Amino acid sequence: MKTTTTAEEIRKAYENRTVREDDPYRLRLHLMPPVGWMNDPNGLCQKDGTYHIFYQFSPQSVWGGNKAWGHYTTTDFLHYTDCGIALYPDTDLDRDGVYSGSAVTKDDVMHIFYTGNVMEEGNHDYVHTGRGHNVMHVTSRDGFSFSARQCVFTNADYPKECTCHVRDPKVEKIGDRYYMVLGARTKDDKGRILLYESTDLETFVYCGDFHTEYTFGYMWECPGLVNLEGNLFLMLSPQGIPAETYRYQNVHNNGYFTLKGTIPTAQCVKEFTELDIGFDFYAPQTFVDEKGRTILIGWMGLGDTDYTNPTTEYGWQHALTLPRQLKAVNGKLTQTVIEELTELRTSERYCPANEICQPADNVFELEIPVTKESFSLQLRSDVTITQDHGVFALSMGKSGYGRTVRQAQMETLRNLRVFSDTSSLEIFLNDGEVACTTRIYDPDTTIVCSEGYTIYTYDAIHLKKM
Ligand code: FRU
Repeated sequence: MKTTTTAEEIRKAYENRTVREDDPYRLRLHLMPPVGWMNDPNGLCQKDGTYHIFYQFSPQSVWGGNKAWGHYTTTDFLHYTDCGIALYPDTDLDRDGVYSGSAVTKDDVMHIFYTGNVMEEGNHDYVHTGRGHNVMHVTSRDGFSFSARQCVFTNADYPKECTCHVRDPKVEKIGDRYYMVLGARTKDDKGRILLYESTDLETFVYCGDFHTEYTFGYMWECPGLVNLEGNLFLMLSPQGIPAETYRYQNVHNNGYFTLKGTIPTAQCVKEFTELDIGFDFYAPQTFVDEKGRTILIGWMGLGDTDYTNPTTEYGWQHALTLPRQLKAVNGKLTQTVIEELTELRTSERYCPANEICQPADNVFELEIPVTKESFSLQLRSDVTITQDHGVFALSMGKSGYGRTVRQAQMETLRNLRVFSDTSSLEIFLNDGEVACTTRIYDPDTTIVCSEGYTIYTYDAIHLKKM
């Protein structure tokens, strides 16, 4: 159970990487690990015009293992630089994983907070004993070189009812204060989010927690506060929610609660809304960019699934979603792929209803207004997207590698926007009120739709090494 890969082995795995030229699944619009395993986006921020996108990275294995922070940058979301590894698990307080965390800038300094994961030797369950989850703090003036690490909290500092699992610090400035939220699992197996407040990013004061009256999973991971025009939302990735016919269909879920008030205060939260109902979406993180946009990037993957990814044969697994702008509309969050992506469009064409369209490759966007009562869209050889009798469904055949059906109740479908990449689909329904993201593995380019639609073909994002 204890991780043994050292920081040095991680560095070597990254430096000696080989990327297979014959890989049919490399994505053209998305960030992927150069080699090995990727999970959560971390430390999302913009400083001096440059966007920093860190991520959970295990270059040494497609199955994960000890985690470092990989690092991409971009100034326009079209040209990216692979900056290698920013933070290694190389201190006593994070030797078994530089786990997820966030970044916030103050007085021209980037402040990163993350979880230092420690696994003790011995016979432990690593939930109630044997596990250290430390909140670590590092700073950077340029975003590339980092200060020595300081420990903000160890497990001894968290409320007594928590297990060892207290992680994923996300810090947000709201009003004139900084707020840190931490995901937690209690000793009676309930999910919680701990709330701390700070004026200077040095001292954090505990202000209570976010909890539900009813049991809603055993662990809440990757929390975040989203403040949009005075609407406050608490995002989280809850684990252990029983699947229902039309909700919570993944092994681990994601979504948000609407909070009371305009300043974060500890409270009992009630109605949970899923952010993305597809097979491959988890641990999303948001940040506010220099234009004031709230941008979300999620992990386009999920752990503990019974479906698989043939990319493992090519030495890598998982990716990040396209960056999506969040808006609050009628008290709910909507998601729209950031407008920069449209710069990559290479052609535009109208396709009439029910005609077979076969673009040259699978990198395209569809804009589909819905005019009829029931809707169907076929993509690739065996994927269908339907809405009929109040139910939306994404059904996948062999190309899903074990992914079968995801469905949700939806009274009316007004429009769809579908972003297709070589091995992924991101489907946005009703102006982004619902999102549905999946990996898919099929070179077939067939498109047949019950409605007429516009198809845009796309060029690829540019990626260079630092
Ligand atoms: C979510 C998560 C986080 C943790 C990280 C470790 O996917 O489990 O809670 O910090 O991944 O990689």
